[in-house]
Amino acid sequence: MCGIVGFTGRENALPILIKGLHALEYRGYDSAGIAAITKEGELRVIKTRGRIEALEKKVLAAGDIDCTCGIGHTRWATHGEPSDANSHPHLGGDGKIAVVHNGIIENYLELREHLTARGYVFHSETDTETVAHLIADLHKNSTDGDIVRTVLRAIHRVRGSYALGVVSLDRPDEIIAARRDNPLVIGLGEGENMIASDITAIIRRTRKYIILDDNEVAVVRPDEVIVYNNFGERIEKEVRTVTWDLSAAEKGGYEHFMIKEIMEQPRAISDTIRPRLKDGEIVFEENGLTDDRMANAKHVHIIGCGSALHAGIVGQRVIESLCRVRCTARVASEFRYENPIIEPDDLCIVISQSGETADTLAAMRQAKAAGAFTVAIVNVVSSTIAREADGVLYTWAGPEISVATTKAYSAQLSALYLIAGRLAFARGLMDAEQHKAFCASLAALPDLVQKTLECKEQMQFLATRYNNRASVFFLGRGLDYAAAMEASLKLKEISYIHSEAYAAGELKHGTISLIEDGTLVVALATQHELYEKTVSNIREVTSRGAEVILIAGADFTGDESACRYVVRLPECPAILSASLSIVPLQLLAYYIAVERSCDVDKPRNLAKSVTVE
Ligand code: F6R
Repeated sequence: MCGIVGFTGRENALPILIKGLHALEYRGYDSAGIAAITKEGELRVIKTRGRIEALEKKVLAAGDIDCTCGIGHTRWATHGEPSDANSHPHLGGDGKIAVVHNGIIENYLELREHLTARGYVFHSETDTETVAHLIADLHKNSTDGDIVRTVLRAIHRVRGSYALGVVSLDRPDEIIAARRDNPLVIGLGEGENMIASDITAIIRRTRKYIILDDNEVAVVRPDEVIVYNNFGERIEKEVRTVTWDLSAAEKGGYEHFMIKEIMEQPRAISDTIRPRLKDGEIVFEENGLTDDRMANAKHVHIIGCGSALHAGIVGQRVIESLCRVRCTARVASEFRYENPIIEPDDLCIVISQSGETADTLAAMRQAKAAGAFTVAIVNVVSSTIAREADGVLYTWAGPEISVATTKAYSAQLSALYLIAGRLAFARGLMDAEQHKAFCASLAALPDLVQKTLECKEQMQFLATRYNNRASVFFLGRGLDYAAAMEASLKLKEISYIHSEAYAAGELKHGTISLIEDGTLVVALATQHELYEKTVSNIREVTSRGAEVILIAGADFTGDESACRYVVRLPECPAILSASLSIVPLQLLAYYIAVERSCDVDKPRNLAKSVTVE
């Protein structure tokens, strides 16, 4: 969701900005633009609706632009449709200041009225343009002429969330950056520095970076970066080093990031689980999740959005089943409005790949304020949720570029199993022997997922048969229902086929009226005690014309004669089955999307990191 990049140094900034924007494409966008300060002292803005390739064409058509400082942006529309005019950067005042922005300015209407009354003319419908004019107005009227103070004054008048990049003709080699509730990093190079929404946009030039925190403002020049706090006082920041390799953010011979990331799941699961298993015990050294804390929790809340929520729903079932403690998984965007009952000893598990999802962050802050101990399951190191939670359990999935999550989801499940296992031990529901056996099952999980991936060709074949269906239903009971939700989301988000997940026993209470000849139903059956019941539900749909693909546990003993195809999973403890059953369904979604020529890694309208509420 919106990406910002900025460069100031000695080389031509344009190709660096364009490469940076390409690296941010995965976040999701509908338009792109750049602003460059030329050697001739001009501020050139080039922007367009559509893909970065369209921007590149416009840049090329603009002829030679000699510049070593500039900012770029990919926009995911919030205020105003995707159009050239609404694309960023936006110019302020008489065109000497350009601004890129990620986030939402909540009081933009009020600011717009105020600035219009002062004679500023708006050229877009965006909230961002108000910031550009506000900075220009405050700068024009400032007595000290200090652009940093002007930006600070401007953001003090703004309500909402933002990451901002500002360039001004007055300071041709300088970028001003600011943030509140939206991520922004500053890449530190030799004789050059960058700003970006995330590390993928800077890693080609440097591995050293600073994370800008809320309400901070930075001045970025080729040879120095100065950071100020909200009061304009200079502060020191920790310099961090990127720990992963550039190759992790490249396709490595695969056609799409999504299939690469599906295939990486055994490694992601292994890297998440194995460092936390020591001598037959699950050990959390890093996150303050002590046995006392776990034993005393009366309620475990789980919060997340989309696939992270689906991982949480699996987690809820696993935790309630193993630990016999009340556990509820809730949609983060609803959590705040449900007036949840949170007691000081409660445990709140916050799940987020990006660690920047605005709804999840807001829900976490609420739980924390109510006194719960918050532990974040997060993939992006040092992201906002990771830094604000009381404790963090990183999923070591590596950078996930495909918008549709696969390996991060699987790593989230692994992290939840780890918590469930230790929680059960801490609460006396597993003795040392049982705990050791559970750890052994976890240690074996990566190999089982690897084995499950062997169904790849079968799923590719099924995709050729079923890619033309108008609607697909995913059915399951218990853990299989939770896995069905994720399977359904995967299919619809990347293939644009309507699909729904249903608790297998619930379909007959209304939705079964949608089943007709040729409707595809994918049934999941991995829980031994539920096999017979699920078979009955399969019969209900096949007798109404549905074609069923069954994803069956290794010991499935039910009658499979009604199913058109059966995909059998490797043998696995039933409690961990969601990690296996999702694999064929990720593959099915992927191959169906490929068959339908969809933009698999960048599905329409979607953003990887959803930083607005
Ligand atoms: C679906 C998907 C989304 C995310 C959701 C939360 O494939 O990726 O549903 O799971 O937007 O994102 P994070 O995990 O970054 O908080």
